[in-house]
Amino acid sequence: MSATVSVIVPTYNERDNIPELVRRLDKAMSEAGIEYEVVVVDDNSPDGTAEVAEELSKEYPVKVLRRPGKLGLSSAVLDGVKVAAGRIIVVMDADLQHPPEAVPRLVRAVLEGCDVAIGSRYVRGGSVEGWSAFRKLISKGATLIARVLLPQARHVKDPMSGFFAFRREVVESGDEMNPRGFKILLEVLVRGNYGRVCEVPYIFGTRLAGKSKLGTSEIINYIVHVLNLSPHYVRFMIVGGIGTFVNLGVLLALRAVGLIHAVASAAAIEASVLSNFELNDRWTFRAHRSGGRLGRLARFHLSSAAGIAVQWGVSNLIYYELLQNSLIAQLVGIVLGFVVNYTMSKKFVWGLGKH
Ligand code: GDD
Ligand code: MN
Repeated sequence: MSATVSVIVPTYNERDNIPELVRRLDKAMSEAGIEYEVVVVDDNSPDGTAEVAEELSKEYPVKVLRRPGKLGLSSAVLDGVKVAAGRIIVVMDADLQHPPEAVPRLVRAVLEGCDVAIGSRYVRGGSVEGWSAFRKLISKGATLIARVLLPQARHVKDPMSGFFAFRREVVESGDEMNPRGFKILLEVLVRGNYGRVCEVPYIFGTRLAGKSKLGTSEIINYIVHVLNLSPHYVRFMIVGGIGTFVNLGVLLALRAVGLIHAVASAAAIEASVLSNFELNDRWTFRAHRSGGRLGRLARFHLSSAAGIAVQWGVSNLIYYELLQNSLIAQLVGIVLGFVVNYTMSKKFVWGLGKH
């Protein structure tokens, strides 16, 4: 007898929560007539969560996966998927902030054709209970960052949700997931293979017992994680933004020591080309490096030539023909040069086609 649905519950020090979670889940699933199993993925919790879960497995369909130490939430979920038997995977927290009674609705959404069904606090009918204004702000800010930087999250109201269900093929036939980080749903949305995403409202409750594991370091990790998930053009733009500072800094410095605009402008452009190359090679297109570094550097110069020509031409045209402001002239040049640069270098330096 194999279960249709596997509910993956990552745990770290959740001894006091897991019995009530399992009881309520069992009741909700039996009432809905859904065959299920629970997969508790415990990271050797010092409070003995795993033993409590083992005890529950005598009475309920509970599997316990024990890992040697605290290896993180995302990797716990991915390891849980490997031992799960269900066609449909549900991910939820152990602390009852995700109501077990809402699980059947998520499952039903998947059965009705959603590849990914997200338990959502930010669609009509959903909400959060007992959060300070500060915690709300953090959550909204993080949500905004994800929606701005990740095209796949743009239409999702609650991409930060830790409560969701999906057909297992979504992760099995998609790109390799990164097991680090806290936001497994973002991984699924960016690297998964799916068509339809739905959001199902629920009310995010207060923790039953114990405390949250989300701290400052998680926030920093989060931003790094989102940037690493972002598409090439976003990273190329961030690199270009940094390059702009390099460019303008060098320009102002050289003008200050008395160089004429034409020369200072050229040197500043070269400085930014070098810094852009380093960052794009080590970060933006890291996974697409082939051949020697010097070869790529040379090709980056060649493929930037058009962009550089546009930059330098526009900058000098504006400076000498339109208005004598070095900064404005250079800035307009940079913006127009950017588009040319991205298109050319993506293709000719790191060998990527159109996407
Ligand atoms: N196995 C394992 N390993 N479990 C972990 C780990 C870990 O390293 N870290 C946390 N967990 C478990 C907790 O025991 C809990 O069951 C669940 O993961 C979520 O952890 P919480 O500490 O309760 O997180 P939260 O309430 O701050 O954040 C939750 O809500 C956010 C929405 O605001 C998570 O679901 C987030 O993913 C979600 O974005
Ligand atoms: Mn929680």
